[in-house]
Amino acid sequence: MSSKYDALVAREKKVLCQTYGRYPLAIEKAVGARMTDLDGKEYVDLLAGIAVANLGHSHPELLKVMAEQAQELLHVSNLFFQPRQVELAEILLSTCACDRVFFCNSGAEANEAAIKLARRYMRTVRYKDAYEIITLTGSFHGRTLATLTATGQAGRIKEGFEPLPEGFRAVPFGDIEALRSAVTQKTAAVLVEMVQGEGGVLPLPEAYAREVQEICRAAGCLFMVDEVQTGLCRTGKFWAHQHFGLTPDVFTTSKALANGLPMGAMLAQEHVAKGFVPGAHATTFGGGGVVSAVAAKVIEILKRDDMAGQARDLGALALDAFRKVQDKHPECISNVRGLGLMIGIELSAPGEKIHSELRERGFVCNLAHGRVLRLLPPLVISADDLLAFAAALDDIIESNKA
Ligand SMILES: Cc1ncc(COP(=O)(O)O)c(C=O)c1O
Repeated sequence: MSSKYDALVAREKKVLCQTYGRYPLAIEKAVGARMTDLDGKEYVDLLAGIAVANLGHSHPELLKVMAEQAQELLHVSNLFFQPRQVELAEILLSTCACDRVFFCNSGAEANEAAIKLARRYMRTVRYKDAYEIITLTGSFHGRTLATLTATGQAGRIKEGFEPLPEGFRAVPFGDIEALRSAVTQKTAAVLVEMVQGEGGVLPLPEAYAREVQEICRAAGCLFMVDEVQTGLCRTGKFWAHQHFGLTPDVFTTSKALANGLPMGAMLAQEHVAKGFVPGAHATTFGGGGVVSAVAAKVIEILKRDDMAGQARDLGALALDAFRKVQDKHPECISNVRGLGLMIGIELSAPGEKIHSELRERGFVCNLAHGRVLRLLPPLVISADDLLAFAAALDDIIESNKA
């Protein structure tokens, strides 16, 4: 590592709360599907800021909207009606079967809003004392106290933060009978990701996903989908729940919504949205001028350029290439799975060495649970970059055998 890098890391260690296990890489700039480090070395970005830069870094149309809107109106608060916020809501709702939206600033906040809405809807619209939120093991829903409690994982995410809020339980991923018996009169909602991201890229089987919705409808609780990572064309449909024709009562989005500016949203069907009334929920920055203008442009471009189709096509190409590498090295790669451009390559042994060698060769991806190479590239990445990644992976595995 260079002296520039070492100096930056030394300063960081002194001043920031040490909450992140960072890769040994400092990024100075990023354009499209390329990132450049402090010393001018270029990397192919197969992570997109963890499924955020779906349209690539520094997209010129988004930069233009950002600059123009910043000169018009940055922030006035939700005490006022704001045209950009309403325009965004209209275009966002045109992509799905929900009727109303609440804007916030992150995925955790969007899920927090969904959890609060589910409880309040049950109490004030349905007059039921139903408050429990059921999630799946392996899920990830955020780091606020409620959303980390909803998260179906043990370990550091929860340790030391007790007492955790009541009214959450996780049932085993994929076990429909476990879910059926967990849903009771106390259940307000079942909340699932269509593809578990942090969990290691685990798509929900179609039949299971359909049954989850059916169980919710039969029991009269809400079916809620966390699309924070899977949404906005990432999986090859605008929303991942659309692969199976599902109609969640509530779903959440964030990450790619403003392609890098902090933004989240909770979308709900009309009857459920009645659970919120003025004063019941709020956030200072939600739906401000600049983020709303940029997010509206993001959605316009995602639709105009058929980014869902692009994610489908490139995802199929990438899965095929990675499976060929698996066929060559079955002892090293145990599974290749994914939906659209949300792909996991599961290694048979701890993957730190392969992961860091990929980075040294100029490919940045994530390593989930120490074993799954998780790829969430910008949807504008080229087929050549994906094939180059496959070739590098093949070569690294081959040379590690020698
Ligand atoms: C599925 C899912 N839900 C919620 C979150 C939390 O989002 P944020 O980090 O913006 O709070 C994430 C973040 O990775 C996520 O992947």
